Amino acid sequence: MKIIEATDYKDMSKIAADYIIQKVNQSPKIKLGLATGGTPMGIYSNLIADHKKNGTSYQAVTTFNLDEYVGLSGDNPNSYRYYMNDNLFNHIDIQKNNTFVPRGTVGDVVKECESYEDLLTKHKGIDLQILGIGANGHIGFNEPGTSFHSQTHVVQLAPSTRQANARFFSSLEEVPTKAITMGIATIMKSKEILLLVSGEVKKEALKRLLTENVDEKFPASVLKNHPCVTIIADKAAIAGL
Ligand code: GLP
Repeated sequence: MKIIEATDYKDMSKIAADYIIQKVNQSPKIKLGLATGGTPMGIYSNLIADHKKNGTSYQAVTTFNLDEYVGLSGDNPNSYRYYMNDNLFNHIDIQKNNTFVPRGTVGDVVKECESYEDLLTKHKGIDLQILGIGANGHIGFNEPGTSFHSQTHVVQLAPSTRQANARFFSSLEEVPTKAITMGIATIMKSKEILLLVSGEVKKEALKRLLTENVDEKFPASVLKNHPCVTIIADKAAIAGL
């Protein structure tokens, strides 16, 4: 794993966005894997600013999101589909039908997981996956203990994850208890992975990732088995490690 140290959140977001922009310009039909949460917001605002200023085009880009809450429809402001439309897709020239987010309100969510996995296979996988990390080491919504062989599946969210994400909702009770997430094996099939780590709150997770063995108890540790991972971490997350 290659590590790039950024000075702060702003710098981390700029470095990651510049990297993505370069890849999109090199390969206009690139398939991007996208993440939600607080961490990638700065990347998306940089991509929008660059699109407006330099005209980088996403017309031929296809995107696949990591996860979605079960029970939230795309017009619910807390759904990840809404987040992606609002924070990125509505502001660039991407074709909406080339943007894929698992659907959390279909009748049969297990079938939705299978269809999502099939869709990824049909598109021959992701070229560049953007990842954040949970304080407990989760990637996507793959909580500690998830099999490294897992494909897209329905998960029960850990209380700590619901707590961490409650800041986006009006109350903890409103945070869904289940989600659909790409599995760990699904994520590992990406050709390249960019992992973003920012803030003191992620310091322990980064330390565990860098120092502990590969173990299902700490999902992000699997990334050590991937041939092409770059971590971009800011000073607050990396200091003293
Ligand atoms: C969330 C998301 C993950 C995200 C992680 C960290 O629950 N499902 O995809 O990477 O947890 O979130 P944040 O960036 O807000 O700290």
